[in-house]
Amino acid sequence: MSEAGAFTITAATGDDRDWAAGLMAGSDPWVTLRRGIDQCRAACQRPEFVVFVARDGSERCGFSLVNPRGVAGSPYLASIAVAPGWRSRGVGAALLDHCERHAALTSRHFFLCVSSFNAGARAFYARQGYRQVGEFDDYIIDGASELLMYKRVRPAATVPAPPGA
Ligand SMILES: CC(C)(COP(=O)(O)OP(=O)(O)OC[C@H]1O[C@@H](n2cnc3c(N)ncnc32)[C@H](O)[C@@H]1OP(=O)(O)O)[C@@H](O)C(=O)NCCC(=O)NCCS
Repeated sequence: MSEAGAFTITAATGDDRDWAAGLMAGSDPWVTLRRGIDQCRAACQRPEFVVFVARDGSERCGFSLVNPRGVAGSPYLASIAVAPGWRSRGVGAALLDHCERHAALTSRHFFLCVSSFNAGARAFYARQGYRQVGEFDDYIIDGASELLMYKRVRPAATVPAPPGA
């Protein structure tokens, strides 16, 4: 568990994964990417994915979804979303920081993808120190690319290389 400002961040329990799927399905970029509730629920319910939820008291403000071996054996942020009324108040930064510290327990590397049309999230990740290392054209929908972003979350090679690397 971690606390940043007024927020508490913990691993998902109870119906948190269902709540996360609902938030995701009702929000861009997933609306534009045509990810319906069934696909969002399937992603959020994958048992090997780690879901963190940010709360203010008992109110859920946002979530992050991490695939622990999503890119070349390294942790990958599969999704992050903050409930509309909570945006621009530091919840996203606190969730991302929590994910990075969790990733750093097993890896030096952390990856994520952002859609080319998602200007807000691109600004957010740039501000959090991510740099673009790849681009996949027409990856989910035609006319939009997915940008692969990377951040080194540990300075030195103090953990073993990813499996298969
Ligand atoms: C991206 C997201 C997770 C950021 O969470 P957040 O709690 O709003 O982020 P923070 O408050 O920690 O930081 C906000 C900063 O991110 C950037 N940012 C976020 N959304 C932005 C937008 N729509 N336009 C411009 N900048 C934006 C800005 O730098 C902003 O700083 P500011 O509030 O001082 O202007 C949130 O906006 C969200 O859920 N967006 C919809 C889902 C999404 O796009 N997820 C990412 C998928 S790859």
